[in-house]
Amino acid sequence: MTAIIEKVLSKDEVREFRAMLDKATWPDAKAVATAGSLARLVKNNQQLDEASPLAVDLGNRILRNLGRNDQFTAYAHPQRLYPPRFNRYTDGGSYGFHSDSALLHVANSSVVIRSDMSATLFLSEPDEYEGGELEIETASEVEAVKLAAGDMILYPSGALHRVLPVTRGARVASFFWVQSMVRDAGERSLLYELDQCVQQATIAMGAGNPTVQQLAAIYHNLLRRWADT
Ligand code: NI
Repeated sequence: MTAIIEKVLSKDEVREFRAMLDKATWPDAKAVATAGSLARLVKNNQQLDEASPLAVDLGNRILRNLGRNDQFTAYAHPQRLYPPRFNRYTDGGSYGFHSDSALLHVANSSVVIRSDMSATLFLSEPDEYEGGELEIETASEVEAVKLAAGDMILYPSGALHRVLPVTRGARVASFFWVQSMVRDAGERSLLYELDQCVQQATIAMGAGNPTVQQLAAIYHNLLRRWADT
């Protein structure tokens, strides 16, 4: 299951981010070791130096916004987040089908993150570039994703995915990984659906309704059962 988290950044924030990112130096991503050796063979894009003050600053701003985002919290139950990175596809740049490494070491620290979910936060508007769809292979279909600037998709890190060649303009995005307190994707998905039901029932019947109270208790009992902190 994938989820779109809208407006992680406002349009004003996107403009601010882009004003800085468009002036930055973008080395070839092959020179920056993020992908495993298999993935590196299919990777053809540019990536901002993750240790640069700009990457660190903008990454922290994204993390702050996500900390305040109820939809992200309800869907992901985040435990650890990989510091956001930034990439840019232009001039036919693409990234062939791959899945993401399971364990990711955060640079210059002893922190290891299990990639339960991968995130792409779009920083270019869809009309700024041609191509560049993020294709995610699920059990039944291939989902092609191209979101408005400021919106983000979360998808299972184990799903095969690719970025189609960008044939006009530039596709700028931030990407990172999320380790969830709820490790199992099926359990996360059930919790999210139940959470939506509780919210709808609260609107329809009122928070004091006994059935609503019972549903909410079931939600929290499942979370208690499945979450590791
Ligand atoms: Ni990937």
